[in-house]
Amino acid sequence: MNDVVEWLKENGNLKIIDEPLDVELEIPHIAYVEVKTDNSRPILFTKPINKAKGIEYDMPVLMNIFANKELTEKIFAKHPDSVAEGIDKLLKLKPPAGLMEKLKMIPELIALKNVFPKRSKKAGACQQVVIEKKDVDLDKLPILKTWDEDGGPFITMGQVYTQSLDGGMQNLGMYRLQQYDKNHLGMHWQIHKDASHFFDQYQKAGKKMPVTIAIGGDPLYIWCGQAPMPHGMFEMLLYGFVRGKNAQLVKSLTNDIYIPKDVDIVIEGFVDPEKMEIEGPFGDHTGYYTLKEPYPVMEIETITMKEKPVFQATVVGKPPLEDKYMGWATERIFLPMLKPMAPDLIDYYMPENGVFHNLILGKMKTLYKGHAQQFMHAFWGVGQMSFVKHAIFVNEDAPELSDDIAITEYILNRLDPEKILITQGIIDALDHTANETLVGGKLGIDATAKEVESGLESPLEDKELLEKMQELDGNILELKQYFTHTKNPICLIIVNKTQSMQNIIAKLKVLKEHIKVLIIVDKKNNEIDNPYMLVWRVVNNIDAQRDIVLEPFIAVDGTNKTEDDGFNREWPGDTFCTKETLDSLQERGLIDIDEKFIKKFGLLPF
Ligand SMILES: Cc1cc2nc3c(=O)[nH]c(=O)nc-3n(C[C@H](O)[C@H](O)[C@H](O)COP(=O)(O)O)c2cc1C
Repeated sequence: MNDVVEWLKENGNLKIIDEPLDVELEIPHIAYVEVKTDNSRPILFTKPINKAKGIEYDMPVLMNIFANKELTEKIFAKHPDSVAEGIDKLLKLKPPAGLMEKLKMIPELIALKNVFPKRSKKAGACQQVVIEKKDVDLDKLPILKTWDEDGGPFITMGQVYTQSLDGGMQNLGMYRLQQYDKNHLGMHWQIHKDASHFFDQYQKAGKKMPVTIAIGGDPLYIWCGQAPMPHGMFEMLLYGFVRGKNAQLVKSLTNDIYIPKDVDIVIEGFVDPEKMEIEGPFGDHTGYYTLKEPYPVMEIETITMKEKPVFQATVVGKPPLEDKYMGWATERIFLPMLKPMAPDLIDYYMPENGVFHNLILGKMKTLYKGHAQQFMHAFWGVGQMSFVKHAIFVNEDAPELSDDIAITEYILNRLDPEKILITQGIIDALDHTANETLVGGKLGIDATAKEVESGLESPLEDKELLEKMQELDGNILELKQYFTHTKNPICLIIVNKTQSMQNIIAKLKVLKEHIKVLIIVDKKNNEIDNPYMLVWRVVNNIDAQRDIVLEPFIAVDGTNKTEDDGFNREWPGDTFCTKETLDSLQERGLIDIDEKFIKKFGLLPF
């Protein structure tokens, strides 16, 4: 990481902040604000402290390494599309027909030898300093507490290395880790993830599970940790493929797990499958808190480090954040891996304000009736793609998927209730909106056909339409119509929610000639003129099976749910910055934001 810091000074416009700053809220808030700005920069905090615990740490904190697309590309040392091309070639590799073809394949085969990690029994640079079990103290590490209501400090960029019970499979996953005390960490590997599958094996066998966590080293390690590699494939293979050189691994001191030799900090330990601890709450990348839930706990055996380690961390919360840029690389690189199951897929796009699993757009070469539906089922059935709640497919003649306005126009001109599929499937463990955890509604929109014929029968101005609605229900407070030039204008209304929105939708049916698509959100914390955050809110807040009505117009209830909606779980709050912290950082000139910025990104409640 020290090399990375030097490299970032030269290549990444690194910002260095030497003022002593608190790991609780102050450092995370600065990083959070920075990554939302245009041309955001990585930041090195050289003097982290913990005011409440009276600690001055002796290592710096590096944040926002993936601060923008340009830097992300530089970290890969190539454009993610070129990594994708390499993978595509590999997947299409055929046995050579003759001598010439065999010769042509030689460079590709030689490059493949870089893929496999090299294991060494010698000590690595990450083991220069060894802290024995009795001296282990997680308070020596500048672990951040990001949000006021977080259940404690969390390691947010931990590379979690695990292996299957028989030692045959090794895995690297990026999971957050809650610090409980001096030597215990919560293992937030969600039920669908590889480390959780390994954990099940140890639990059944009644054996303790070894875990080694690494922090730092080549930034590509952490990207590999979040990459949705198929079960059973060690992420370090992907590392070797991208870097064009083998990952160099060394053995942990107290277990058999191998980790990269050049990481900065290594935390080794065991998870007792009998013990669970309450994990969370934690302000997550959905922009909501994930609620308290029991998760396995790791007891630490030893911590090793480099002589001068750098602590790496990230902040998650409302988009856009660092995971936008990590996710962009992932999206590009995994395109060829989706093609074997969906060969006519041309491209796909996961807009950052859909926080990845809440919205995906796919462009395809449509060949037959039901083709888009076939894709929906394929996506909802494979690996982590199956977490996607809302999928929209367009034909090959559609504009660029990332051209937000043009693609929305294209979709709205083809939106037809007959071509909407609402079904059920597995959902991300973080989803807060389904009536039960892990299973929820799925929405698939087939917008691959020609434009629909009929548009809005009788369009009205916003003011007139609002008045008509208010005559029917006084809780409708504001109204704005978007994309009125398309066949399916969106009518967005803001309500003071006192009842189930199904009642309001039923009342508004008489206005059917004036409405094609109705979207409802709460008054609290939503701005009618902020479509970026409205998309974020609505795709986060709906369970398609419960919250979408297709007749006589399409109605989407994007409000927070309560018992009135038949919702009996706890509805989590948004991640908000702490006002006093923002004010104090602003006074000290450490951030420079105004009311407009605060509202635009939902930094504070309103
Ligand atoms: C910043 C960030 C934080 C994450 N935190 C978690 C987490 O706490 N738990 C989890 O299961 N997945 C988390 N993920 C997603 C996983 O890293 C991702 O699903 C990965 O592919 C899991 O690897 P696996 O399939 O090998 O288990 C996070 C991803 C990012 C980018």
